[in-house]
Amino acid sequence: MNQPSSDSLIDQIRQLGPWHHNIRLTESVEINDAYDEQERQRVNNDNISLINSKSLFDQKAKLIYPDGLQGKTFLDCACNGGGYCFWAAEMGAESVFGFDVREHWVRQARFVQTQRKVARVDNIQFETCDLMKLPERNLAPADFTLFKGIFYHLADPILGLKIAADLTREVIWLNTARCFIDNAESLYCTFEQPENLMSGVHALAWTPSGPSVIGKLLYWLGFQDIRHVFSRQYKDRPKYGRMEIIAARKPGFLDRLAEAENAEKVDIGAHRHSQQATSDVKSLF
Ligand SMILES: C[S@@+](CC[C@H](N)C(=O)[O-])C[C@H]1O[C@@H](n2cnc3c(N)ncnc32)[C@H](O)[C@@H]1O
Repeated sequence: MNQPSSDSLIDQIRQLGPWHHNIRLTESVEINDAYDEQERQRVNNDNISLINSKSLFDQKAKLIYPDGLQGKTFLDCACNGGGYCFWAAEMGAESVFGFDVREHWVRQARFVQTQRKVARVDNIQFETCDLMKLPERNLAPADFTLFKGIFYHLADPILGLKIAADLTREVIWLNTARCFIDNAESLYCTFEQPENLMSGVHALAWTPSGPSVIGKLLYWLGFQDIRHVFSRQYKDRPKYGRMEIIAARKPGFLDRLAEAENAEKVDIGAHRHSQQATSDVKSLF
């Protein structure tokens, strides 16, 4: 079969834009090549940043799985253009499932799958699906789940995270927007616009106040090694920022990541809370 020329690939990439993930298709073409420096700027890309996350993903995934992802299954919730799925397959994952609620992004991921010549793609499946409807698919649990950029786009993020966690055997990697509110462990209510390609689809959304909120949820969902990898505060909007929490079901599973990234255990205060809960209940009688 004839390979499309680089020019025709570039035309097809442009037709499928705007893109969020820069992904390599062939030795000579990656998504970025379809745009000049000006066009790649967020303001000229429908307010969507065109990100290069492969090396960050590889670096952290190797700290979690130093022998690579051979024999592991990978689930990407809200996979967007599929970047992380392709990189997980490149790291040796046995099978990969990525889904996103928007056909726009799944169309891109499937296009890359047909054109990517630099790594294996035949063990990757993409579907258009709302996270809240994922249980209807009766998927087998995955070893390693990515839950990046989705928590704060859900009308019911606790149920959303539970759906992903229940499908995770070993490790869940969560990255979310957060807000900075003193002394608060909360979810803050917001509204977003479903017509925005990067937003949620149910209009209502909740932003967590910090790592302990997510840590407690993950502990409740059965994860025991819960690490706060980073938090950042936006300079132009200091009430908001980003944080990353990676959690494993087995204690000690993330020791290597914790040491390399200086990722502290999230203080979920489980002991204190269970004592408090017990005495609260006793005081009822
Ligand atoms: C901020 S982007 C993050 C994309 C990707 N996970 C990443 O980190 O690069 C949010 C993504 O979540 C998807 N999304 C929003 N609500 C969803 C839902 N209920 N189920 C599945 N995907 C959803 C959007 O279509 C969009 O691709």
